[in-house]
Amino acid sequence: MKTKLTFVITLFVIATALAQSAKMKAIVVHQFGGPEVLQYEDAPRPQPKENEILVRVIAAGVNPVDTYERAGKFGPSATLPLIPGRDIAGIVEEIGTGATKFKKGDAVYGNVRSGGYAEFAVAAEKDVALKPNVLDFVHAAAVPVAARTAWYALVDTAHLAGGQTVLIQGGSGGVGSFAIQIAKVRGAKVFATASTANQDLLKELGADVAIDYTKQKFEDVVKDVDVVLEAAGQETLERSYPVVKKGGFLISIVGPADKTKLQQYGIQSPPLAISGSPLPELTKLFDAKKIKVVVTQTLRLDEAQKAHEQVGTHHTRGKIVLKIADEKK
Ligand SMILES: NC(=O)c1ccc[n+]([C@@H]2O[C@H](COP(=O)([O-])OP(=O)(O)OC[C@H]3O[C@@H](n4cnc5c(N)ncnc54)[C@H](OP(=O)(O)O)[C@@H]3O)[C@@H](O)[C@H]2O)c1
Repeated sequence: MKTKLTFVITLFVIATALAQSAKMKAIVVHQFGGPEVLQYEDAPRPQPKENEILVRVIAAGVNPVDTYERAGKFGPSATLPLIPGRDIAGIVEEIGTGATKFKKGDAVYGNVRSGGYAEFAVAAEKDVALKPNVLDFVHAAAVPVAARTAWYALVDTAHLAGGQTVLIQGGSGGVGSFAIQIAKVRGAKVFATASTANQDLLKELGADVAIDYTKQKFEDVVKDVDVVLEAAGQETLERSYPVVKKGGFLISIVGPADKTKLQQYGIQSPPLAISGSPLPELTKLFDAKKIKVVVTQTLRLDEAQKAHEQVGTHHTRGKIVLKIADEKK
């Protein structure tokens, strides 16, 4: 009996040591800077803690916030070395203590604090949902940050309702492409802006009025909307106040709105209301084919620099995704 117990303990110690020393391929940032600081190398495989799961990452979405973090411009929270990436889709590999929502082998997608650009990533189980059946891993990885932001802005903060009108600034980007579709599902009339090359996309996503900002001022077309979602930049934010109706919402995700101007126009701009993960709701919408995902470029993990160069232009159509592994081991 004693021999058997010693054997089991030894096995456990060896397994733990192996797991802790296991390596994976990842993109690591050792110093803040341009896309060239993204290094493809070996890194220690993370371990799930309480209420966390370890996911074998099949694909990771790329977001503007990843580029700010890489450059050291995202608050004091980032410590080096860091593995960027907040969007993942993959297969549950290991369950941390107390985590009960998923089992090993489940196909999932979700938000991680960082660490997405890697073969394995740890996620809080509350930030993860089962992958929609209709989406492959690449398309699922494009969803979490952008769609969640659009949902928080339009649904949880502006309470957009049927019959209302909304202007989506930057309608062809990651957030905007989901925002147009979510607004249509809510029954709103949608105005959306993008450049000439993306007018077709705005229409395809359901915009009632597509505005080409290179040819037309949105102020000449849009009047008295209930909501503006500002996802384009400071210049359009500055010009958006007068098109919102009194009492309406100017929701900005590109920086805070000016309090004096909000008062002057009698409009509101609360911070994003964040009430749990909307991914389960979004999964239903994807599976019902009410919304879709626009991925315009799929790159390998070792091409993360190229992905950041494109995302850094702030003129990305839909999303860029890093394909990290095959679905089958
Ligand atoms: N606060 C948050 O929680 C949060 C979360 C996610 C994102 N964000 C921020 O929100 C912004 C948008 O994010 P994203 O992921 O959607 O970015 P993105 O994918 O780079 O998309 C930006 C879009 O803006 C369009 N655009 C550029 N200039 C424009 C203009 N003058 N008028 C209208 N559209 C214009 C571009 O279309 P064209 O190529 O046609 O110009 C592009 O499709 C970024 O600044 C990001 O950092 C904030």
